[in-house]
Amino acid sequence: AGTALPQLAEGEILSEQQASAVSKEVTVLFGSQTGNAQALAEKAAEKLREHGFQVVLASMNEFKANHIKKVQNLLILVSTHGEGDPPDNALSLYEFLHGRRAPQLKDLRFSVLSLGDSSYEFFCQTGKDFDKRLEELGGQRLYPRFDCDLDYDEPAAEWLEGVVKGLSERKSPEAAFRPASVKAGTSAGQPVYSRTNPFKAEVLENINLNGRGSNKETRHLELSLEGSHLEFEPGDSLGIYPENDPELADGIIQEMNWNPDEVITVNKQGETRSLREALISYYEITVLTKPLLQKAAELLSETPLDQLLLPGQEEELRAYIEGRDLLDLIRDFNFKEVTASSFVSILRKMPARLYSIASSLRANPDEVHLTISTVRYEAHGRSRKGVCSIQCAERIQPGDYLPVYIQRNQNFKLPPHPETPIIMVGPGTGVAPFRSFLQEREELAAQGKTWLFFGDQHFVTDFLYQTEWQQWLKKDVLTKMDVAFSRDTEKKAYVQHRMLEQSRELYQWLEEGAVVYVCGDEKNMAHDVHETLIQIIEKEGGFNREQAEAYLAEMQHSKRYQRDVY
Ligand code: 2AM
Repeated sequence: AGTALPQLAEGEILSEQQASAVSKEVTVLFGSQTGNAQALAEKAAEKLREHGFQVVLASMNEFKANHIKKVQNLLILVSTHGEGDPPDNALSLYEFLHGRRAPQLKDLRFSVLSLGDSSYEFFCQTGKDFDKRLEELGGQRLYPRFDCDLDYDEPAAEWLEGVVKGLSERKSPEAAFRPASVKAGTSAGQPVYSRTNPFKAEVLENINLNGRGSNKETRHLELSLEGSHLEFEPGDSLGIYPENDPELADGIIQEMNWNPDEVITVNKQGETRSLREALISYYEITVLTKPLLQKAAELLSETPLDQLLLPGQEEELRAYIEGRDLLDLIRDFNFKEVTASSFVSILRKMPARLYSIASSLRANPDEVHLTISTVRYEAHGRSRKGVCSIQCAERIQPGDYLPVYIQRNQNFKLPPHPETPIIMVGPGTGVAPFRSFLQEREELAAQGKTWLFFGDQHFVTDFLYQTEWQQWLKKDVLTKMDVAFSRDTEKKAYVQHRMLEQSRELYQWLEEGAVVYVCGDEKNMAHDVHETLIQIIEKEGGFNREQAEAYLAEMQHSKRYQRDVY
């Protein structure tokens, strides 16, 4: 896109104003796991350019950390995941700034936008950490940090506006920026579907992949993207806006003695829904968060809920929130006097659910396939259900429609050269993107070797897409496959055990330049696989622990170790 600075005719001399404009550079760095922070950073860069700024836009790991000394204006857009952890591509900068070699940043002006989910305890932690650390190193905030919850569009736009002001206002010369011509909006006549304008995709297929007697139910969904002009690449995800279980919505309405047909205004734009509709499809009603309970307590005067929210009660609060929903809340505390409209005003908008796409557009044009694990469990004396997975399992049939959008994920991409070998580790539904990878590699007739590690509970009932892998093995699209069925043997077998058994060959692949992909459960599996990779590198490369860690960190840095974990 280049910069939007005034073009000078030959021989023309820069005025003082223009000269200062030329040096007016803003560095926009993002740390993004699912792509939201990246998309926002791209938007911010575009807007800044429209305002005449010169923008350097990069992911944190592409940016040379020690160049930060030279940066005058820095914007950081970063998400938090897991237990307050930075995204993979933010790690290097995060560690550099928090390490002993971090430089003093006296000339730096900065602002941080953090993304997170307030149902997690360490909400927006990574953004908070960057914000605090940049200040400690001498930087000055040009605009306060914004911490955004799942519904981040509005606060992010407000932050960006504030940032533009903050950047322009300081010391007069820069204030006179000439705004560039605003870029034309969308392509002619064609609606552009996005997270804020989802496409209604027809469901073509919806089957259970698990055999009878399995502990699990994993749905394979095929959706039509026909007419949407939506495109994606292997590694991208699909966002679905689900609907709540009508039984839960009705339960809340009955418990409160509300009128299901009462008309509710759901947003600042003045859109309305019936109360029942709003609780089914507009609001999140299955998750309790601390901010929600704080607002709920404000609706009541004198409530035992206040006790839970006192400082020092964090453990009790966490224990209460865990596994409970809004029906529990209104049963446990007395909300009888609260009106439906003031009650829904404290609710979060229903967030979309992201699923790693399990098909390739090249192999299945106009379609997108998903692999969704059905979530059912017991908690606090009631059976609980995952919102989206249960909707797909119990209430969605072929012919129905789901509102969807594509979430790009640049952090999980096939290598640019089809000859590069790839190692894929994906137990359970973590195998989904690898079906997409292999479909794509088959279509491209890619020559590179491929190795899949898959695991699940039982061979007989849980071998997801078994016949597809076997056919790819036959055709040599898949070079090697190792499986670990954890509950078929007395001793648990996991994917990382299979990796370790083949450590020599695995290391050889790494030395040949293989890219390692890990998809699936973050907390246990991805952590253990990471540890196993270090062990393999240590053992087969003859390194000590520190060197092996550096080897893996370098792989991560050069995009040869990519993770899509949740
Ligand atoms: P388990 O449930 O029998 O313990 C997909 O869910 C597969 O991942 C299952 O076989 C599950 O085994 C397994 N799994 C559970 N914890 C894991 C871990 N820490 N590392 C790798 N696989 C794990």
